[in-house]
Amino acid sequence: MILWPMIPEQIINMRSDFTISKLIEAGRLAQQLGARIIGLGAYAAWIGKRGVLLAEAVNVPVTTGTNYTILVAIEAALSALNAVGINISEASVSVIGATGSIGEICTRILAKDVGQLILVARNEEKLHKLAGSLREAGSTNVTCTNSINNAVSKADLILIATSAPTALVSIDDIKPGSVVCDISLPHNILKDEAEKKTDILVIDGGVVKPPGNVDFHFCFGLEKGLAYACMAETMMLALEELYVSYSIGGNISILKVAKMAQLAKKHGFKLAEFTSFGKTVPKERIKAVAEARLAQPTHSPCPLTLSRPS
Ligand SMILES: NC(=O)c1ccc[n+]([C@@H]2O[C@H](COP(=O)([O-])OP(=O)(O)OC[C@H]3O[C@@H](n4cnc5c(N)ncnc54)[C@H](OP(=O)(O)O)[C@@H]3O)[C@@H](O)[C@H]2O)c1
Repeated sequence: MILWPMIPEQIINMRSDFTISKLIEAGRLAQQLGARIIGLGAYAAWIGKRGVLLAEAVNVPVTTGTNYTILVAIEAALSALNAVGINISEASVSVIGATGSIGEICTRILAKDVGQLILVARNEEKLHKLAGSLREAGSTNVTCTNSINNAVSKADLILIATSAPTALVSIDDIKPGSVVCDISLPHNILKDEAEKKTDILVIDGGVVKPPGNVDFHFCFGLEKGLAYACMAETMMLALEELYVSYSIGGNISILKVAKMAQLAKKHGFKLAEFTSFGKTVPKERIKAVAEARLAQPTHSPCPLTLSRPS
């Protein structure tokens, strides 16, 4: 692992020519060390057109891990719904960051299976375009809004994948017995708030158990032996000797996610046990959320007030 110790706010606020030059410096170091593929973790993925400029500069394939992250996040969310007794076909699902590279493909994969889909982002034009395209593809259950608190208050599952480096979702807006799958790094929900509300299950969206007893010899915020999906995608491509730039630029698709599912099966990469802010979720917590769910009055998913007609 090659580390560039900058926090997301610094990366966002620094001049892009500086951040790109530092990324290329790190890429050249990887090349000298013999790397045949380079994976960009978390916020490094934003620099230089999402890996495109680095791939051009170093002549080594680059990936951001986005396609495998999508697969793992969906697996985690569906598995968590099942664990607390929520039926996906009746569930109201809010995707915060629905128009982003992770959010959009998650939305497209889930659209036909969920009870109701609520798309959230700031740019209304992009939101309505996505909602329109989902409706054209046969989903009748799609609404959109840019009010996060409105969207989360009605949801059984909240999938968060935004590029905002701060908290966006308040746990107090979420109903008891619901599941939050936060893919964003840094997270968009506060750890202290999430820990206090024992009747809501908050899980990390992209945590993977690689095969064998892996020791990364470095603590990047997860328990020993676990990896982020963005790292795991790079490992799987290397094991497969598939030395191509896999998830760079806008190169994210359902087909590429499906290919990751095949590679994960072949090489033994699995969804980790549920973690929340890097720590394994205790079984009692899952039970408490399932009980809170049972205590909720049954209701039909109700339509949202749209921010503008669609
Ligand atoms: N766990 C992992 O292994 C892993 C791997 C890769 C990425 N990630 C993380 O996943 C997250 C999403 O990545 P991405 O590549 O999908 O990002 P992206 O393509 O930039 O999409 C970001 C989405 O968030 C929305 N958004 C941004 N700020 C917002 C705000 N304040 N309120 C509401 N919506 C907002 C954007 O739409 P508007 O601009 O219109 O609001 C867009 O829909 C990042 O935090 C990244 O670090 C995790």
